[in-house]
Amino acid sequence: MSEKITALVTGASRGIGAAIAHQLTEDGYFVVGTATSQDGARAIDERLGDHGAGIRLDVADSDSVANVAGLIGEKAPMPLIVVNNAGVTRDNLLMRMSDAEWNEVIETNLSGAFRVTKPMLRGMLKARWGRVINVGSVVGRLGNPGQGNYVASKAGLEGFTRSLAMEVASRGITVNAVAPGFIETDMTDALSEEQSAVMLERIPLGRMGSVNEIAATVSFLCSQHAGYITGQTLQVNGGLYFG
Ligand SMILES: NC(=O)c1ccc[n+]([C@@H]2O[C@H](COP(=O)([O-])OP(=O)(O)OC[C@H]3O[C@@H](n4cnc5c(N)ncnc54)[C@H](OP(=O)(O)O)[C@@H]3O)[C@@H](O)[C@H]2O)c1
Repeated sequence: MSEKITALVTGASRGIGAAIAHQLTEDGYFVVGTATSQDGARAIDERLGDHGAGIRLDVADSDSVANVAGLIGEKAPMPLIVVNNAGVTRDNLLMRMSDAEWNEVIETNLSGAFRVTKPMLRGMLKARWGRVINVGSVVGRLGNPGQGNYVASKAGLEGFTRSLAMEVASRGITVNAVAPGFIETDMTDALSEEQSAVMLERIPLGRMGSVNEIAATVSFLCSQHAGYITGQTLQVNGGLYFG
């Protein structure tokens, strides 16, 4: 079993989560990355090699989350770093949005972070050190038509971040959010060319961000250099929003 600090990264099968998982192995942590399928978990296992492991997790499902501590325990010490990155979109105008579309996004993006973080806190409290990093979104501040569910989940995640930061600060645990702007992943591939062009016009740096730029920010927040930062949301968005 690894004696390195364990970092748990949800949604590490692709996109931003995969980049975060890779970066944290480079930083010397043992990374447990999650995917929603067994095949996805196996692929993470292979990618991370001796520096990490993949497990199956559905953050929207309490039973799946209840298994997680046991699954991690088979492979590594309990995590002192938790990156709540798993997220989905189910876009629709509010007038047309179904209960299912609303609930899936809130259950995954917001309640998922609550479910995963809670059982991981015990180890951090005992160690008197820890890092919780929640991946929000610039639209949590900006709003976005057609994304009432997603925006509510990301704005909620920021409030969760601030409250938890206050609860655990005295134990050396910092809790922050990273709010990506428009980043090249499967999530943004789903946008039409027209939607992408409109978004690009609004970004002062004139380009989409890369997954590595988000991973680098998470890496910094995990490091000792960021020990005096807590309750914050770090905006990484090419100037799209100055918050
Ligand atoms: N891309 C952007 O421009 C952008 C901008 C702002 C914020 N974000 C946020 O950044 C995070 C990652 O986004 P991304 O663009 O990398 O997304 P992505 O490429 O669509 O990947 C989503 C990840 O979340 C996992 N996931 C989905 N539902 C899950 C569930 N119920 N339980 C556990 N894991 C689940 C997926 O696992 P499977 O592979 O197994 O499905 C996958 O690993 C999200 O929170 C997103 O809201 C992204």
